[in-house]
This record gives sequence, structure tokens and C-alpha cells, in this order.
Amino acid sequence: VCTFVPRPIESDPEALKVPFFHNNDDYDEVIFYHRGQFFSRDNIHPGMITLHPCGFPHGPHPKAFAAGAKAARKETDEVAVMIDTRDALDVAPAAESVEFKGYVGSWNPEGFRQAAE
Ligand SMILES: [Fe+2]
Repeated sequence: VCTFVPRPIESDPEALKVPFFHNNDDYDEVIFYHRGQFFSRDNIHPGMITLHPCGFPHGPHPKAFAAGAKAARKETDEVAVMIDTRDALDVAPAAESVEFKGYVGSWNPEGFRQAAE
């Protein structure tokens, strides 16, 4: 279990920085976005949940990453909870009914546009 809370962005050249792009080889990853501006995500709002299944490469969305670099922010403003699960997850029918179908393509700059159409 990992909690993301407001924090200074690493500025020391020797700081251990967050590994932005990654995949989880052994775990499914669920993140609940509670509050704030999620620096690594575009079109993610409070109350949403993401699921990154085991082996799914992911990282900051292109627009969010570019905006963050341009803004040169000194701290994050987000509250989210991440759970990496030892056992694979099943998605319940109730969750499938509210799924944002374009999310899986959201690392493609065209992904969100296709989902909105
Ligand atoms: Fe992840």
C-alpha cells in the first residue's frame, strides 16, 4: 500500500527519483485518486480509480508530463492511494459499467480524443 500526498518534487541532483515509466511484473496495481491535481495523469479526476494489470507498461500521460515540466512546479498537490495486489484482480460487472473505455489507449495522444468521440 502506498499513499501519494503533497510533497516537494525532487531537486537534489543525487535524489532517488520516482521511476516514472514502469510495469509491475508480479502485481496488479490499483490507484484511487482522492484529491488534487494528479501530476502524472491527464483527464483523471478525484473519485476515479485506475487499474494497471500485471505487465502493463505505464507512466505519466504525455500531456501531463509536458505540462508538469513546463510549469516547473516545486511540489505535488495530490492525495491518492495505491495498492499492489499479490493476486490478480477481477473487475466486477458494476465497475465494468462505469469503465472509461479510452483509458487503455490514454498514453497515445489520440487516445483520449477517440474516447471522447
Ligand atoms: Fe504503476
